[in-house]
Amino acid sequence: MKKRENFGSKIGTILVAAGSAVGLGNIWRFPIETGQNGGAAYIFIYILCIIFLGYPVMMSEFIIGRHAHASTSTAFQKLSPGTQWKWVGRLGVLTGFVILGYYSVVSGWTLEYIYLTISNQFADKHTADFAPMFNDLVSNPWLSVMWTFVAFAITYYIIVRGVTGGIEKFSKILMPVLFLLITLLVVLTTNLPNADKGVDFLLNPDFSKINGKVVLSALGQAFYSLSLGMGALITYASYFNSTSRLRKTAINVCIIDTLVALMAGFIIFPAMFSIGHVLSPDEIGPSLIFITLPDVFKQSFSAVPILGYIFSLFFYILLFIAALTSMISLHEVATAYCVDERHIDRKKAALYVTLSCAILGALSALSFGPLKDFTIFGRTFFDLFDFTASNIFLPLGGLLTTIYVGWFINQNVLHDQVRGIDRSKQMSVKIIRFLIRYFAPIAIIGIFLYQFGII
Ligand code: PHE
Repeated sequence: MKKRENFGSKIGTILVAAGSAVGLGNIWRFPIETGQNGGAAYIFIYILCIIFLGYPVMMSEFIIGRHAHASTSTAFQKLSPGTQWKWVGRLGVLTGFVILGYYSVVSGWTLEYIYLTISNQFADKHTADFAPMFNDLVSNPWLSVMWTFVAFAITYYIIVRGVTGGIEKFSKILMPVLFLLITLLVVLTTNLPNADKGVDFLLNPDFSKINGKVVLSALGQAFYSLSLGMGALITYASYFNSTSRLRKTAINVCIIDTLVALMAGFIIFPAMFSIGHVLSPDEIGPSLIFITLPDVFKQSFSAVPILGYIFSLFFYILLFIAALTSMISLHEVATAYCVDERHIDRKKAALYVTLSCAILGALSALSFGPLKDFTIFGRTFFDLFDFTASNIFLPLGGLLTTIYVGWFINQNVLHDQVRGIDRSKQMSVKIIRFLIRYFAPIAIIGIFLYQFGII
């Protein structure tokens, strides 16, 4: 049997996991949620969710993956042979597949926006032109499918190079570029005239906006943002070597993910406030990123258009890198499943996953154009994939994973993995175990009930 590849360095391990976590969720969802739900008060609640839910669930996934040295479904089979737990792993594979099916479309749009920026197509546009421009892109079947496929091709190119030569190597290049770009953008926006109003808006806590709903949506956001509940981190942890420290890695990933999300807020709000743009409730996700922001960036830097050009270019490159490293982790879940459980050669596995998932990508892309009236349960393909994966599969996977690690796994495994080679304190093992056993499952059930409008 071939020896399993391992990530070669500690920093590589952290950057790869952070690459999965940092994604579209940080840049287009977190800032808006913060803006609409009480600024710093929301940030405070969110950080609590990361500590008490995100961190223990991440540890659960790391424990399974590192101990079993196998990707999701195979890991459950190795740890609990002859049981049905493998289906939790398989659910993760399906979830990754479905998320990749719509995530790739948005990644494709960011590529188109990089192209539009480079070819200077925003220069002669006015505020009213940005919405039709975006609508033209998404409703054009050829263009949006083509960009979706380009996003897949780039992901495939990296995946097929293997765990160390592909995923780790590229994460070590892409993630530092991402940090550099985001820092530059924050410096540029926070120096705009009136930017301090945007900063105040974010940092001013409004606790009156916090209610049960906001807490549950912060929990859901923490969950999605850290890539939990679908085995992405189980799969990545299966490539950790035995000396990497799980707790340290998890803490670093949580911090990086939260910092990037906060920094995205410090890009978006100062820019908006500098031109007096008032956030409307329907400016979420795509419309914010592809309609409002290019216009906001253009106007904020109207005194020095070249800065606006550079800013916009850097912003969409940043977005693409964030999306790409998440796509890689989603792709790897399915690829590793084919390799570990179906014993398919990695190169072939990567190709099969790319080709089959590209079909889902094409269906999602077309759901803004020719397939827009084709709905299942009242949703287009894009919405259906997003809704089922984020609202049903992820929390379900996360719930089952924590129940498994908290109640069913051999508790020595939990102890050994958490304590690691440096034999960390018993106390921290106890706290982590408590959070995994009790707090996390209850919180996830809460997210579920909230998402279905039951509470
Ligand atoms: N964490 C990613 C984001 O914030 C999304 C993601 C979820 C990626 C699950 C992989 C697995 O955008």
